[in-house]
Amino acid sequence: MTRVLVTGASGRLGRVLIDVLAREGFEVRAASRTARPSEGGVRWVVVDLTTGQGLAAAVDGVDTIVHLASAPYRGRYTDRVEQGGTARLLRAAGERHVIYVSIVGADRVPLGYYGSKIKAERLIKASGVPYTIVRATQFHEFVAQGFTLMTRFRVRVIDPGLPVQPVDVRDVAVELVSRIRGGPLGGITEYGGPEVIGAGELLETWLRARGRSGRVLRIRIPGRLGRAFRAGHLTTRARPTGKITWREYLTGH
Ligand SMILES: NC(=O)c1ccc[n+]([C@@H]2O[C@H](COP(=O)([O-])OP(=O)(O)OC[C@H]3O[C@@H](n4cnc5c(N)ncnc54)[C@H](OP(=O)(O)O)[C@@H]3O)[C@@H](O)[C@H]2O)c1
Repeated sequence: MTRVLVTGASGRLGRVLIDVLAREGFEVRAASRTARPSEGGVRWVVVDLTTGQGLAAAVDGVDTIVHLASAPYRGRYTDRVEQGGTARLLRAAGERHVIYVSIVGADRVPLGYYGSKIKAERLIKASGVPYTIVRATQFHEFVAQGFTLMTRFRVRVIDPGLPVQPVDVRDVAVELVSRIRGGPLGGITEYGGPEVIGAGELLETWLRARGRSGRVLRIRIPGRLGRAFRAGHLTTRARPTGKITWREYLTGH
């Protein structure tokens, strides 16, 4: 039986992945900075990647590590987790297969967080550890949480033509299971949702599904960032894609 350690197991993707892994018969070790009761075939362990607390024990006896721990848009702490934490994890990993989830466009979109992901990718590639890097597009839940945050303001702001290809974490979890089974790729692969949608349409469908109204202010994101977004750098031509659409996600949540 393959034994898998999942870092960031309490996050959007991690929560779903550990359930899928347990259902598929993997022995699952789930890492979090907070102690949690083990249940349903998942054993929780405490790991802090910024200090290395719990890391050696967490990797002991596992075959594969799926590395999802991240602290986006938190300034220096982001780098401490993404780079310092990834470097620590790689030192502990030895010959184990490390699967790292990055972001489609991380190499082309000028956002600080994306730059941090690229630096972590480079650490992985240079480490000598058997690896697979899976760059995913934006998760449905992440997009929906962004829209919910906007509801604090009376006006929602969107660059309507910006192409997005949201993907469901259930599909990403299935993709990761096949990457665990397939063994180290020694390279980067991309994974996106089933359709490319304009950000304006994403917001309108979300508003309708949630029965919300309010003004939508259409803007054009300026500069390099806007150009990178509008060039479609958040989308991928990689096939296969996930199956669950944005509308299906909205109906189920
Ligand atoms: N969200 C998206 O749309 C998206 C799209 C493409 C790729 N990705 C990538 O996919 C991965 C998972 O994303 P997600 O949205 O599921 O992440 P998330 O919900 O932000 O969860 C990340 C987890 O990392 C853990 N963490 C934070 N600091 C840590 C530390 N110092 N040591 C150990 N664990 C720490 C946290 O768990 P505890 O608080 O329990 O410790 C948290 O639950 C990330 O690498 C992200 O860049 C995300």
